[in-house]
Amino acid sequence: MTRLSSPRLIVGMVCAILALLTLSLSSAQSEPATLRNPLTISGPDPWLTYYDGYYYLATTTGGSTLNMRRSPTLAGLKTASPIHIYQETDPSRCCNMWAPEFHLLEGPDGPRWYYYYSAGTSGTLDNQRTHVLESAGTDPMGPYSYKGRLFDPGMDTWAIDGSILQLNDALHFLFSSWVGPNQVLFIAPMSDPWTLNGPRVQIAAPEYDWEKSGLNVTEGPVALQHDGRTFIIYSGSFCATPDYALGMLTYNGGDPLDAASWVKSPEPLFQRSDANGVFGPGHNGFFKSPDGTEDWIVYHANDSEVGVCDDQRTTRVQKFTWNADGTPNFGVPVALDEAIAAPSGDTGIDPLPDITAGVTRLQGYGLDAFLRHVDEAVRLDFAPSPLQDSWFFIHPGLADDEAISIEAANRPGFFLRHQGMAVIFAPNDGSAEFAEAATWWRRPGLADDTWLSLEAFSQPGSFLGQRFGVTALAELATITSERARADATFLEVK
Ligand code: AHR
Repeated sequence: MTRLSSPRLIVGMVCAILALLTLSLSSAQSEPATLRNPLTISGPDPWLTYYDGYYYLATTTGGSTLNMRRSPTLAGLKTASPIHIYQETDPSRCCNMWAPEFHLLEGPDGPRWYYYYSAGTSGTLDNQRTHVLESAGTDPMGPYSYKGRLFDPGMDTWAIDGSILQLNDALHFLFSSWVGPNQVLFIAPMSDPWTLNGPRVQIAAPEYDWEKSGLNVTEGPVALQHDGRTFIIYSGSFCATPDYALGMLTYNGGDPLDAASWVKSPEPLFQRSDANGVFGPGHNGFFKSPDGTEDWIVYHANDSEVGVCDDQRTTRVQKFTWNADGTPNFGVPVALDEAIAAPSGDTGIDPLPDITAGVTRLQGYGLDAFLRHVDEAVRLDFAPSPLQDSWFFIHPGLADDEAISIEAANRPGFFLRHQGMAVIFAPNDGSAEFAEAATWWRRPGLADDTWLSLEAFSQPGSFLGQRFGVTALAELATITSERARADATFLEVK
């Protein structure tokens, strides 16, 4: 009978354990990182770039602020906070900020990020124009300063979805505008990243049925260059329809400012997939994997046929390839539950395998901090962990459906309520008292009226804020300092 302590057996067992460890380690290392879409619960018109070790993502806010998310891994963008990089107060360009794009271009003081976006005046979309910020250095997070409005002095009309085409050692500005019943694509020459120095030229208009669903629209132009060839990918049809899709113009080598130099493909290259539950995919951007070997597309889409052109459009990404004839092959938009391999050179794991649809986070004013529960306690945290403790479902108010009630997404039935001046998350006991204490009026932010303050339904004049350094109700009469106003101001981040 072999004694367990015999040296040969012990050596054999150690070797077996080492072999198992090596096998498990190597298999773990060989497992490619994967991620699932969407990257953001609300993320229309996304623009995504990999630069100097980080991914950067900006999406339409629709308000008076511009944002930027940053993460060392693509999947990490899911939990990266959208940091405000600019807030506009000039009424001529204050509002409806759409379609952010940031391009690293040569400025007078060296390379700078030029952050393009559409914006207009409050209460109407009729005054949308294209604007640009300039970064102080080469950090995409900024700081940024307003640089100017881009327009053709000879035809200064509605303009959106500005983008940059660098071709034949020259800068060109691409954008979309209305001509009669059609939203068309224009190109114009640029003397620098913030100035057009010649007339705009129309290079595309809706002509095919797939560009005319809902409205006659061609918008969201973006340059794509590969192996010496140049394409402009654009979105066709009305953005509020499930038929919104991507089309392509191919540059044929002539003068880029001549419409004849751009040949349109008759069929869309990327469109809805009912089988995969993806509707209205469009308004895209492109980025490379960290090691530069892969081409990826970032786009927005709705996950239901009734989805429209609002902030419920989510940001999605997927790799694409090239056809033998040198044109891009975007494939079919992937389903949300499909695990896709992360970009080559991206070692990140997916921190949140699947984002719960419809959750909202409450960001503290001017902070990269979010409201969260800790059991029944409530506080602002810079890095809530688990992140799910800062996820909420915003419901019609339990006591008044014109107001709201805030339920912890990972503690069903637990609602934000006050007890006297204290604020807690507590289980809904179904009583009228609970309903009233857990109902909040949305009010214009006390620190910034484009943000949000929450007035207690059952204690008018008292707002969710801070008292003695903890999250609590604060009476308006005591919210007199800038700090107190900021403590009582939040942003609903989807
Ligand atoms: O998402 C807002 C605007 O809607 C985008 O800038 C444009 O592409 C679409 O019409």
